Amino acid sequence: MSGEGIKDTVRAKYGQAAIRVLGGNSGACGCDPVSSNLYDAVETAALPEGAVLASLGCGNPTALAELHAGETVLDLGSGGGIDVLLSAKRVGPTGKAYGLDMTDEMLALARENQRKSGVANVEFLKGEIENIPLPDASVDVVISNCVINLSADKRRVLGEAFRVLRPGGRFAVSDVVVRGEIPAAVRRSMELWVGCVAGALEEQEYRRLLADAGFVDVGVEPTRIYEFSDARAVLAGASLDAEVLAREVGGRIMGAFVRATRPV
Ligand SMILES: C[S@@+](CC[C@H](N)C(=O)[O-])C[C@H]1O[C@@H](n2cnc3c(N)ncnc32)[C@H](O)[C@@H]1O
Repeated sequence: MSGEGIKDTVRAKYGQAAIRVLGGNSGACGCDPVSSNLYDAVETAALPEGAVLASLGCGNPTALAELHAGETVLDLGSGGGIDVLLSAKRVGPTGKAYGLDMTDEMLALARENQRKSGVANVEFLKGEIENIPLPDASVDVVISNCVINLSADKRRVLGEAFRVLRPGGRFAVSDVVVRGEIPAAVRRSMELWVGCVAGALEEQEYRRLLADAGFVDVGVEPTRIYEFSDARAVLAGASLDAEVLAREVGGRIMGAFVRATRPV
């Protein structure tokens, strides 16, 4: 499938997830072991229910990113806005948090969550992470939560992240990453692409693409490794033999915190 085909499928899937949350249900879209229990209760208690229900990430980037008062943060693929609202609190009123998403329904949900939370230093932008609608060197920290794996052009996304970061700025992203080869049948499955697994970068490839974009101090730290039973639950959403494939991929798919710096 072409890059545009992938984007249309991803947009449709996450648009439906947003509509489910706007209707008062969970946004879960078949990758529950990936998205469950990422935030602690103290963090989420202060957020609107819709932001928590819509959480479709695979990590907690704002907890790991060490955000400081007054900084500008950009969340690539902000969904229902959970990490943007958490970032806005961390950078405080002198800072700013931008969320960027291409899906209208997700933007509507995120703006509704912003209104309910009463946080002012937040702006949700419509656009694609492959063409970030912000000027060069305008952001201190780029975060993202389980989105870069969905892009058909990851090299371009990482180049765009580098462009909008100020010199010394940090890339601090949670993403699904794989270690070693995963079976071709998994890679080919569109259901598993939109479920965050088939498009996941291999760890060494992620490091290489970040270095090619100009980043230094690259790190990939596993935050959750999906063992056989998790892998089976994730693969069960696809029309493949989940039992057999889970044996091959168990322990090789992980939620990871990926960090890098734009040199000064
Ligand atoms: C798996 S959800 C994660 C949402 C959010 N980061 C969270 O943790 O809940 C993926 C989100 O990224 C958005 N997205 C996917 N590909 C995108 C792209 N190429 N450009 C902009 N947004 C994209 C989708 O619309 C969706 O809201």
